[in-house]
Amino acid sequence: MSNDVLFKPFEHGSLKLANRTVMAPMTRGFSLGGIPGPNVAEYYRKRVEGGTGLIISEGTLIDYPAATDSITYPSFFGDDALAGWKNVIDTVHAAGGKMMPQIWHVGSTRRPGTGPHPDAPTASPSGLVAPGKKIFEPLTLENIDALIKAYGQAAAEAQRLGFDGVEVHGAHGYLIDQFFWDGTNERSDKYGGSLVARTQFAVEIIREIRSRCGRDFPLVLRWSQWKLQDYTAKLAPTPERLAQFLEPLSNAGVDIFHCSQRRFWEPEFEGSDLNLAGWTKEITGKPTISVGSVGLDQEFISAFQGEGAAVANIDNLIERMENGEFDLIAIGRALLTDPDWVNKVRKGQFDQLKPFEKIDREHLI
Ligand SMILES: Cc1cc2nc3c(=O)[nH]c(=O)nc-3n(C[C@H](O)[C@H](O)[C@H](O)COP(=O)(O)O)c2cc1C
Repeated sequence: MSNDVLFKPFEHGSLKLANRTVMAPMTRGFSLGGIPGPNVAEYYRKRVEGGTGLIISEGTLIDYPAATDSITYPSFFGDDALAGWKNVIDTVHAAGGKMMPQIWHVGSTRRPGTGPHPDAPTASPSGLVAPGKKIFEPLTLENIDALIKAYGQAAAEAQRLGFDGVEVHGAHGYLIDQFFWDGTNERSDKYGGSLVARTQFAVEIIREIRSRCGRDFPLVLRWSQWKLQDYTAKLAPTPERLAQFLEPLSNAGVDIFHCSQRRFWEPEFEGSDLNLAGWTKEITGKPTISVGSVGLDQEFISAFQGEGAAVANIDNLIERMENGEFDLIAIGRALLTDPDWVNKVRKGQFDQLKPFEKIDREHLI
């Protein structure tokens, strides 16, 4: 089967990419004190030289306390961290690549007393770490306003430094997803209640980014059905519910939806072969990024648990892209192990792809 569809240029608004491959955001913990050093720039440069069309950075933290429980995850605020990111984007551009930071706050998944703000209260919509487990105080309306501004500020910094857009991390059970999910959002104000009301926090973040960065700055929203707190959770169990969920986000100004699922070949709803990115594109008419076990023989949670899983099929990916089901494909672990993964696939050198193994320090660069 020809790989050509993966290597067609992509254009949407001001975003122009040489091909359809995206490096998935992957937290790595190289940035002691929150500052990405020259090693981080090198790490991304290798993936650009390996042919990746768009790099999405590891999750990088907004300027609001208790955004993480690690002192090695990068910040997207403060002079030193931003100087580090400036070097990253300049290095990526010099190598001919494109890149967006993924901006992130972990909310109630942070272990209290950890990270750069050990004494700061945990941020979460209703104080829940998981359904029914209330441990913290809910965010006040004043806190929520400050959080929205912090996301907007991070996006404005990304634009100022010359990044090619910004990705908002609304997936996997972190802060924004804690608002989306009724398992962690029991608010009775405008930020809670119906599925549409639970999108309000993200809607206000998107509007804030638009008002700070203008209409043309590419804005990607990553979202997922699954949560770290519950892999089987579903925000939208039917296409009708999915449309209710997506409409306010799309109207607020998302350019591209990045639809995180664990195996790209799995249909989202019964009765159709479309995956999550396929349905999201169908409903919103906007471009989408798919992801999930591309080029791997184990899906990613099983891999960490040491289980075997289904074999991902690149022909299946190409067929879906040729059908226009989604526009871009993100590659995660395969690109950690093999920075040249994209070029090797382009040249048909499948026998030279390095297999994914559990990540160790060797894969830091
Ligand atoms: C080490 C590692 C770190 C990750 N960190 C993030 C992250 O910071 N933000 C995010 O949205 N997803 C994160 N993910 C999920 C990936 O972006 C991706 O969705 C997942 O690995 C599935 O893609 P793959 O099967 O190609 O690896 C991470 C995954 C891995 C393996």
